[in-house]
Amino acid sequence: MNTSLNKDEDKREEKDNLYLLNYVKHLEKRIRNLESERHLLEAERLRLEQEIHGIRNEIDHLREPPLITGRVIDVLDPHKNRVIIQSSSGPSFIVSTSKKVKDSIESGIEVALNQHTYSIMEILPMNYDPFIRGMEVIDNIPDISYADVGGLEDQIQEVREMVELPLKKPELFLKVGIEPPKGILFHGPPGTGKTLLAKAVAHETDVAFIRVIGSELVQKYIGEGARFVREIFNLAREKAPAILLIDELDAIGATRLTDSTSGDREVQRTLMQLLSELDGFSERGDIKFIGATNRIDILDTALLRSGRFDRIIEFPMPNEIAREQIFQIHTRKLNLDKSVNLKHLVNITKDASGADIKAICTEAGMFAIRRNSEIIIQSDFLQSIDKTINKRQCRTTPTELFV
Ligand SMILES: Nc1ncnc2c1ncn2[C@@H]1O[C@H](COP(=O)(O)OP(=O)(O)O)[C@@H](O)[C@H]1O
Ligand SMILES: [Mg+2]
Repeated sequence: MNTSLNKDEDKREEKDNLYLLNYVKHLEKRIRNLESERHLLEAERLRLEQEIHGIRNEIDHLREPPLITGRVIDVLDPHKNRVIIQSSSGPSFIVSTSKKVKDSIESGIEVALNQHTYSIMEILPMNYDPFIRGMEVIDNIPDISYADVGGLEDQIQEVREMVELPLKKPELFLKVGIEPPKGILFHGPPGTGKTLLAKAVAHETDVAFIRVIGSELVQKYIGEGARFVREIFNLAREKAPAILLIDELDAIGATRLTDSTSGDREVQRTLMQLLSELDGFSERGDIKFIGATNRIDILDTALLRSGRFDRIIEFPMPNEIAREQIFQIHTRKLNLDKSVNLKHLVNITKDASGADIKAICTEAGMFAIRRNSEIIIQSDFLQSIDKTINKRQCRTTPTELFV
């Protein structure tokens, strides 16, 4: 009896033990779970903390006052860190440089300034230059040679004498005792090769080539036109020997009207600056200025007055011989069928400019592609001429007719 009682007791105890053991296991599991949950939460907390940090940084960054741009005029004392700058808003200041700026400061570079102290905070890379940006500076002029210019033999000859020779052999002019020419003006209807010849002479002379488009200058740099002109000439001096082309000169060089709006006055200031720059660079022969315009009839007489342009060169619409040469130039690389008769094409394109002929050749290629062919045949050209010339006639506006 006693033993059976003991047995019962043992059993219960065993049961209790088992129960406790299970319970402990369960608790242990729970602890493990909670622990891993804690790890997860901790990781999450870290992540969120980092996010807060990032956002705080961004807020600080956004709260920073804007920097203003300026240009270094002179470095007074590199050790004591004193620099003269001209701010984009006008006045000049003597300022210091932030310790963050590691590169050395030289005069002429563009910098970003603290709005309150005008200290130099950053050096702006050259291509962020707010004034020179948008201007086309071509050091490596595309391979355009005189052989790519059709007709225009006299014009090429003159340009070689007036631009290429003085840049290549300045001593010749010194010896003879005459002042080398400094500027020439190209004028003539649109698409007759003015820009093309300017590029060709720059390429053949192998000097820096700066091209500025007058209308863009007026539109983009409202209020800054005169300053921009100054910058362009400074840049040309820096890059010299150089050819500076102001294309569409009429946009800034049109006759000054007496009854002018503020926009006109702005254009006039730009023109006045241009005139003074043109008068200013006579002493040095290593910059040649080329102006190009479709509208010489509206150019200000002050610009045309002798001394500013040494030569005025007209670019006429191409005659028969010139058109044939231009057709030859623009079909050089084309895959032409034997049926193509350039002479005939020349005869039926009496009113076409060089640019029209180029468009005709490209369009003829498109017609061949549309036919699923790799070879251009005569009828491709005929359709292309039809399309190009018709399109041009639709496009013709009164001003173009006037030209
Ligand atoms: N005389 C020419 N010889 C060869 N191509 C020409 C000629 N005239 C114009 N073109 C073609 O037409 C394009 C536009 O001409 P462009 O020189 O810009 O004319 P413009 O400056 O006189 O308005 C040139 O890039 C060139 O392909
Ligand atoms: Mg042009």
